[in-house]
Amino acid sequence: MIPTTREDCLALDAADPLAAFREEFVLPEGVVYLDGNSLGALPRSTPGRVADMIEREWGRDLIRSWNDAGWWDKPRTLGAKVAPLVGAAPDEVVVGDGTSANLFKTLVAALRMSDRSVVLGEAGNFPTDLYVTEGATSLLGATQRRVDPDGPGLAEALATGDVAVLLLSHVDYRGGTLRDMPGITRLAHEHGALVVWDLCHSVGAVPVDLSGGGADFAVGCTYKYLNAGPGAPAFLYAARRHHAVADQPLSGWHGHARPFDFTADYEPAPGVSRFLSGSQPLVADAALEASLDVWARADLDQVRAKSLAMTDLFLERAAKVGISSITPAEHGRRGSQVALVQPEEGAGYPIVQALIARGVIGDFRAPDVMRFGFTPLYLRYVDVWDAAEALTEVVESGEWRQERFSRRGQVT
Ligand SMILES: Cc1ncc(COP(=O)(O)O)c(C=O)c1O
Repeated sequence: MIPTTREDCLALDAADPLAAFREEFVLPEGVVYLDGNSLGALPRSTPGRVADMIEREWGRDLIRSWNDAGWWDKPRTLGAKVAPLVGAAPDEVVVGDGTSANLFKTLVAALRMSDRSVVLGEAGNFPTDLYVTEGATSLLGATQRRVDPDGPGLAEALATGDVAVLLLSHVDYRGGTLRDMPGITRLAHEHGALVVWDLCHSVGAVPVDLSGGGADFAVGCTYKYLNAGPGAPAFLYAARRHHAVADQPLSGWHGHARPFDFTADYEPAPGVSRFLSGSQPLVADAALEASLDVWARADLDQVRAKSLAMTDLFLERAAKVGISSITPAEHGRRGSQVALVQPEEGAGYPIVQALIARGVIGDFRAPDVMRFGFTPLYLRYVDVWDAAEALTEVVESGEWRQERFSRRGQVT
């Protein structure tokens, strides 16, 4: 049942099995943070973990930490900690580089595994996915084609017989639509295509089952729902069945079978390590490790149940003010965000700014989407209620029409 009063929300918070997690995050007084789908909040344990890495592992132990503090293996040990969050085996995930770089590696590897030459992408995908596809296809003399994966055209676009790779976001960054990973992957496989999934908006937001869903490759960032900090290293998944043949283009010494032989010729490592390239940002890895240790204690079913309850509440309250949503009402098709569109043209950006001025932080995505992320580990039901109240007041009072709310920053 969707709560109908603020008191109902307080009661839900009192009974929330995830409530204690909130204390593990730094959350400024007076802020309702609905942008954890863009940059997750800071875990309290992170500064200490990073300081220890810098002062002890680096400052005191110096070069010995490559062995003694497990620096060399960090891409694998952190990958093994990401694995349960995405339904993968521990030896199928590595952490390193950024999402865009990992997309490039997986796309090229997948293209090289096929005798076809089309990458089918999603027309409205996050731009980096489109740009990286452009780069990878032009490098290999392949072509990019685009489709709306939520419309009826996907099956037809896959049936052309020339699609080597399908690249999709599991949850759409703008509207928050969750895609049927097992169903789409099965369809792509039936048509002879491999699938690369972008998990940026689904890891830590919805249950992800790469093994059960039959995925071939996946990539994702850790700075959103996983709280690893701005620009934190990304992860890369390759199904074990592809390890022996996957040939990724950024062949560096960390992906070599025997890096400390220092041989002149490249020989890829036997497992998922072949997707590594060079040295990784180990200070940032320490921050990621701290946040993954928080996530290791979270029950993902509880996270999903609370996320749906919170987005239900926010969607219902927004509808009451006459703001429409492009986020699916159906639970099975919804990620952990709500994307609202105000009927009056140009109103989205200033409404978000007016909310931020009141301490309710969401973001804006061109051309007209107001985006609000729901992060069950540190948000309370009462926060959702208060945010919806603030939205109602901002819209009904016309407060957002003040000129100062229309001034654009570099990041929206
Ligand atoms: C779906 C998706 N892919 C990729 C990225 C970002 O890529 P990178 O981590 O390389 O900046 C984002 C960032 O918001 C995203 O939403």
